[in-house]
Amino acid sequence: MIADIVFLNGQFLPLADAKISPLDRGFLFADGVYEVIPVYSRQPFRLDEHLRRLQASLDGIRLPNPYSHAQWQARVREMIGHAPFADAQIYLQVTRGADSKRDHAFPTGVAPTVFMFAGPLVTPGESVRTLGVSAVTAVDNRWLRCDLKTLALLANVLLRQQAVDHGCAETILVRDGFVTEGAASNVFLVKNGVLLAPPKSHLMLPGVTYDVVLELAARHGVPTEVRDILADELPEADELWMTSSTKEVLAIATLDGRPVGHGAAAGKPGPLGERMWQWYQQFKNDVMRTGRDD
Ligand code: PDD
Repeated sequence: MIADIVFLNGQFLPLADAKISPLDRGFLFADGVYEVIPVYSRQPFRLDEHLRRLQASLDGIRLPNPYSHAQWQARVREMIGHAPFADAQIYLQVTRGADSKRDHAFPTGVAPTVFMFAGPLVTPGESVRTLGVSAVTAVDNRWLRCDLKTLALLANVLLRQQAVDHGCAETILVRDGFVTEGAASNVFLVKNGVLLAPPKSHLMLPGVTYDVVLELAARHGVPTEVRDILADELPEADELWMTSSTKEVLAIATLDGRPVGHGAAAGKPGPLGERMWQWYQQFKNDVMRTGRDD
């Protein structure tokens, strides 16, 4: 359940009073962008990075940002203040607003719609983490601007549902033989002690968690290669992880019904993933203690 107080177009108000026109272009065309910002102990995590990615998404769809960086910071913090949860996820979206007609081309003189709510942040529990999750692979049939965090998530929704239909947690996407990301996460592999990650491009969302993981790997001296990863490398991987603001760092223990990894370690979360999760928790704790998230 989300918090009862939501933000709509400059006002904090009860969810039941938050009304949006059915002509809103977010509803008619998925013409808008969004962010999901994790909050720990009432401190937003990597807020500036999320707001910078929001700006990049808005630029990508040619929608002027309705608020300055400082205004967004203030509003997100006020939203956190209204939330009954100390650990929360702030969802925000900006659409191209509601015109008086349905026309694909941009309307003129229409104010964007800004909506924000707080939900509880439920990160994977101890049992899920220690067992790892299952995933399936599927062809990445999304458009060619996957770097933009747009509301047009139907392909992601259908791809993620393939995982659910197989009793799995995530779908790993493969385009032209290369691993791009998950339906709602980024993907990392470990092979012979080296952390492998696909490079940022228009084919994947530049995850805020992805950046944190690469920073932590560098800080702790983990050899890392950011390079194109063939789908054929997946069955060879020693470890496979998914990362996102809500899942943090989560091991994938089986892929397409086969255990990930080799020998006695096959089908179990591996040691580097466990260490990375601990470094991530440590980093979060430091952020909560110091208020600094860089
Ligand atoms: N999803 N790739 C996709 C397609 C995503 O939807 C997400 C996050 C990520 C990870 O990004 P980040 O580390 O910044 O959360 C990668 C969010 C959580 C969502 O849509 O709910």
